[in-house]
Amino acid sequence: MAKPKLTYTCSACGSTSPQWAGRCSECGGWNTLSETVAMAAPVAGRIAGWTGGTASRVTALSEVSPDSQQRHSVGLQELDRVLGGGLVSGSVVLIGGDPGIGKSTLLLQVLAALSGRLASLYVTGEESLEQISIRAGRVDVDGSRLRLLSETSVERIIATAEKEQPQVMVLDSIQTLFTEGLQSAPGSVAQVRESAAQLVRYAKQSGIAMFLVGHVTKEGTLAGPRVLEHMVDTVLYFEGDPGGRYRILRAVKNRFGAVNELGVFAMTGGGLKEVRNPSAIFLSRHESAVPGSVVMVTWEGTRPMLVEVQALVDQGQSGNPRRVTLGLEQNRLSMLLAVLHRHGGMLLADQDVFVNVVGGVKVSETAADLAVLLAVVSSFRDQPLPEDLIVYGEIGLSGELRPVPHGQERLNEASKHGFRRAIIPAANKPKQAIDGLTVKAVTRLSEVLDAIDSGL
Ligand code: TYD
Ligand code: MG
Repeated sequence: MAKPKLTYTCSACGSTSPQWAGRCSECGGWNTLSETVAMAAPVAGRIAGWTGGTASRVTALSEVSPDSQQRHSVGLQELDRVLGGGLVSGSVVLIGGDPGIGKSTLLLQVLAALSGRLASLYVTGEESLEQISIRAGRVDVDGSRLRLLSETSVERIIATAEKEQPQVMVLDSIQTLFTEGLQSAPGSVAQVRESAAQLVRYAKQSGIAMFLVGHVTKEGTLAGPRVLEHMVDTVLYFEGDPGGRYRILRAVKNRFGAVNELGVFAMTGGGLKEVRNPSAIFLSRHESAVPGSVVMVTWEGTRPMLVEVQALVDQGQSGNPRRVTLGLEQNRLSMLLAVLHRHGGMLLADQDVFVNVVGGVKVSETAADLAVLLAVVSSFRDQPLPEDLIVYGEIGLSGELRPVPHGQERLNEASKHGFRRAIIPAANKPKQAIDGLTVKAVTRLSEVLDAIDSGL
């Protein structure tokens, strides 16, 4: 077989060059060129001597039935939901996450559960078969029908799959695989991209559902900067504090379901267990109210979750005060501090401000604004807010409180968990009173500050 022609592609601007260089001649990016297989020369255009080829069949949209996509339940409801209602045949799911977070454990459980109904093949390039067997012994699922393969060559994996005819496959991990067409080492951008491309093509042709495991680099992206995300149907990230008990599975791309859907799992001695009702697990229950702590209701995917926002405001030691956020956007904090100064009359220019979302949760919605601001105020004044208070709401630059989606459901959830008071944007005021919950609906930040000054 002739060796394919190699070119070097810049990962930043996509330009190609026949030789490797330390710096891309197009965009000037350093160390961005990587080895790729050259595409076949394009067929000459219609005008300049068209060379032929057979026409493909075109289908009318009305002839395509949407339910020809078969979905399989994977045995874990949390994962089914994140996938958009089960695993679709012929789809490729990428699961990314830090080493040790539990990707292999999750997929071993899923494949073992599926192996009773579907022919399953677990391909590992990282661990020995004995290691997998030890892990399978720890998790309480019946893996007796699960088939294992220890292999890293993509060509040989596909040849084996042709022989074994699995319906579901796990490839753990994409960084250990290599294709014989490239000389670069496994794990390099070119190898990751080319191996994944071959596997995706094979999955589409054969109708096999595939899970690819991808390690996250130090910079927090999947190795092979974003190239994998474009190729696959679904991208899931497994997050959480590796020392902690809870793990969150988040869909960041899904051709078959909603994004930002969350699944919550707990890592136990017997593998991952689903947490069906995760709404209150991230609350740290204090003995009594503490300054700088505020509980809010976030809306993640299709359900509410209660999370605690903590702030610490401290006299700055250097001339340059610090603004540090964990689990929240830092620019948003700077903006909120400016709003607090202009519309609340509270100047924190000489104070360091640290804000953290408890439990390693990431909150990206603007509904967190009010919680962040109240946590900051509470810490700055060293005054605790009532323990049974819940807040949510977006804050605008002119100091107004803006509504957020699912206002009513958020309040219902808070009331279910025993919260008795709420401060929310006026436009989110529920039409009917909620039993046992006193709701203060406000339009401006100054009203919020007045409310807490007068003890609510
Ligand atoms: P693993 O699935 O190997 O992580 P990844 O494939 O993402 O690198 O998970 C490894 C961690 O999970 C390891 O620190 C041990 C822990 N673990 C448990 O706590 N309980 C279990 O039942 C299993 C199988 C693993
Ligand atoms: Mg692993």
